[in-house]
Amino acid sequence: MTVPYVPTPRDVAIEMLRLANVRPGEVVVDPGAGECNIVVLAATIFNAIGIGIEINPALVRSCIETFEKLGLKGRAYVVWGDLFDFNYSIADVITLYLGSDANEKIRLKLSKELRRGSRVVSHDFEVPGWRPIKSIVVNGPFRTHRIYLYII
Ligand SMILES: C[S@@+](CC[C@H](N)C(=O)[O-])C[C@H]1O[C@@H](n2cnc3c(N)ncnc32)[C@H](O)[C@@H]1O
Repeated sequence: MTVPYVPTPRDVAIEMLRLANVRPGEVVVDPGAGECNIVVLAATIFNAIGIGIEINPALVRSCIETFEKLGLKGRAYVVWGDLFDFNYSIADVITLYLGSDANEKIRLKLSKELRRGSRVVSHDFEVPGWRPIKSIVVNGPFRTHRIYLYII
C-alpha cells in the first residue's frame, strides 16, 4: 500500500481542524503527516498539541526544521515510523489524508485504540465501514475537496 506525499491545502486543513472542533490542549495526530502542515496548524492556530507520524525521513527532517523555525518545542512532534505501528490512544483528533485502502486498514486500529468521543476527520476519502456524522465540501486553490467527520 503506497500513499504518496500530496499536501492538504492550508484552507482545507484549517476546515478539517475546525470541523473536528479542536480545542486548546487537545492532542491532534496526523498519520502520514508529510511536512507536518496540519500538525503545525493544530499547534499554532488551535493551540493544540500536534503529533505527526511519517515514514519518509526527508519529510520528517522538514517537519523538525519547521518546528524549530516556529519555536514549537513541546507543542508539535513528529515520529519517524510506520503509521500502522503507532498507538493512537493518546489522540483526541485524528486527521487522515491517505486513501481508501489505508483508511480501511487504519480503521481497525482506531476502533480499538481511540477513546469514546474522539474525532476523526478524513480528507477526500471516506473510512470504509464507518458512517460520517457530517461531510462538507471546501473550495481549494485548484479544486473542491470533501471532508468527512466521524465521532467514535
Ligand atoms: C497524502 S500525504 C498527506 C500528508 C498530510 N497528512 C497532509 O494532509 O497534508 C500521505 C503521507 O503519508 C506518508 N505515508 C505513507 N505511508 C505511510 C506509512 N505506512 N507510515 C507513515 N507515513 C506514511 C507519505 O510519505 C505521505 O507523506
